[in-house]
Amino acid sequence: MQTIVTDSPEEAAGYLNAGGIVAFPTETVYGLGAGICHPEAVKKIFRAKGRPADNPLIVHIPKPEDIDTVAREIGEAARKLIRHFFPGPLTLVLKKSGMVPPEVTAGLDTVGIRCPSSIIAKSFLGFCHCPVAAPSANISGRPSSTSWKAVLYDLEGKIDCILKGDPSDIGLESTIVDCTGAQPLLLRTGAVTIEELQSVVPEIGTAVISSNDDEPPKSPGLKYPHYAPVARIRLCATGGPVAPEADTSSAWIGLTQPHASAAFAIVRQCGTTGEYARILFDFFRQCDALGIDTIYCELPPDEGIGRAIRDRLTRAAAGR
Ligand code: TXA
Ligand code: MG
Repeated sequence: MQTIVTDSPEEAAGYLNAGGIVAFPTETVYGLGAGICHPEAVKKIFRAKGRPADNPLIVHIPKPEDIDTVAREIGEAARKLIRHFFPGPLTLVLKKSGMVPPEVTAGLDTVGIRCPSSIIAKSFLGFCHCPVAAPSANISGRPSSTSWKAVLYDLEGKIDCILKGDPSDIGLESTIVDCTGAQPLLLRTGAVTIEELQSVVPEIGTAVISSNDDEPPKSPGLKYPHYAPVARIRLCATGGPVAPEADTSSAWIGLTQPHASAAFAIVRQCGTTGEYARILFDFFRQCDALGIDTIYCELPPDEGIGRAIRDRLTRAAAGR
């Protein structure tokens, strides 16, 4: 299959409306979309990514008001979150409506719904004839794509079209809150922080992610290895190891300079946690392209988006 790269949201939506699968930019990461009214196209997403069939997809809507077409039984807490955080980097898990086919939700009666704020994503979704199911546009288990070039690298020849936009502003996937139970639960950390969520809905809790394989995890995707580059990830406290065992084949990323900066092939010091989040996955990919074998990652403070960075780093370190 030839993968068309275009900067026209209308042209890209044309491929999706014809039953194709199309990667598109959002403020979090790039998504790989299919129309939910094209269940055969939804299945193609799983094949292109090598994604396990029991891992459901997020449905993307162009406007907050469209939520009622894809979800039902939306409670007061969910309504408040929608009012405050849609459009933006937040996904809500709700009971699905009859419009959402089982191919999207892996057979669950619930569905994750997001309304992106990025202008190009909104424009693309507006040209699509139905809501768009989309996971991150990467090969399963690899770092999410935060640029169109990363999408091309992973998925060229496997998808119909890439809508080319700027690199993603945030660089980490959306915050996910499950609103289907008595108490809303945070399932995945992201740019919308728990403090921000609780300032609107104080009763939001944090889900305990089960490490027991016999029990289904609340968010199916969380049981798979995630976000991992080929290189090994070593988590470090501020300043890192005094003497890294590896030398010219290791890299550093963090908020400070490492103690032994001369020992690293690449040193990337980020000015802010926002910058750290924005460049992290791209840095992983650059390191892989250069054949780096160990990436030392300094853990940022456990607050704000630092929490989401720590979550992704911990998962990447567990990835292999
Ligand atoms: O920022 C994002 O959320 C990006 C952009 C493209 O929107 N999408 C994204 O999708 O990160 P994905 O598929 O890579 O991650 C979605 C996560 C998975 O862990 C999946 O298991 C979980 O959301 N999820 C989807 N539907 C769910 C549901 N009904 N209940 C619980 N978890 C769900
Ligand atoms: Mg993903």
